[in-house]
Amino acid sequence: MPPFLLYAHRGASRHAPENTLAAFRRAIADGANGLELDVQLSKDGVPIVLHDEWLGRTVSGRGWVRDHTWDELARLDAGAWFSPAYSGEPIPTLEDVCRLVADTDLVLNVELKTQLVPQPGIEERVTALLRRYALLPRTVISSFSIATLQTVRRIAPDATIAVLYWGELHRPWRLAAALGAPYLHPPEAAVTPRYVKEAHRCGLRVVPYTVNNPAVAKRLVAWGVDGLITDDPGRIRRAIGPLRK
Ligand code: G3P
Ligand code: MG
Repeated sequence: MPPFLLYAHRGASRHAPENTLAAFRRAIADGANGLELDVQLSKDGVPIVLHDEWLGRTVSGRGWVRDHTWDELARLDAGAWFSPAYSGEPIPTLEDVCRLVADTDLVLNVELKTQLVPQPGIEERVTALLRRYALLPRTVISSFSIATLQTVRRIAPDATIAVLYWGELHRPWRLAAALGAPYLHPPEAAVTPRYVKEAHRCGLRVVPYTVNNPAVAKRLVAWGVDGLITDDPGRIRRAIGPLRK
């Protein structure tokens, strides 16, 4: 993993429809060294890249994602809501993203969306796919679900996991230690100089989300965070200067 991680949140989602190959390509062009993406399963078990567990906001169609097969989801439009220029942009599979980054140095942050709808088997399918593309060593798997992280830890002891949370979490380093997670992905508002110091003292790396304000990004970097998750990697990269190597 590079020392400083600049993850594009759902791709360069400020400039292109989130979680599409267009957004991931834009992120790479804008200088991100990592991609954050949300993954869930179709009805027939295909790992797909989509944030919401229901259709309608960023993709055409209606109902729960989990009730649709990949064949059905592949026909939906994931770009038109953002701009007519992206009309026809499809939902990518995780495998599409694996192919996109296989021959690059990019790091992945695969966030497993398992809160609202049970996704039995997602941990096995995702880790197997990442392994097949030799991407597991440069992937951080995160989830708001502790149960999901525990399952990843059990079935793929070599996977790197991150504790992801919103709001305040009392002593998150304790949870990270219990799970064997070397990364904390807190909301940006939770991070203070003391937080970073304590996390580092515990041997953890801190990568806050979703940091879109250049002044906030500079302050977090000055406090010593180990990465940022942002919708606009180009803008944030210009603000923080060269990434620590
Ligand atoms: O992984 C950081 C961030 O993506 C978590 O929130 O809702 O944007 O997936 P969300
Ligand atoms: Mg996410």
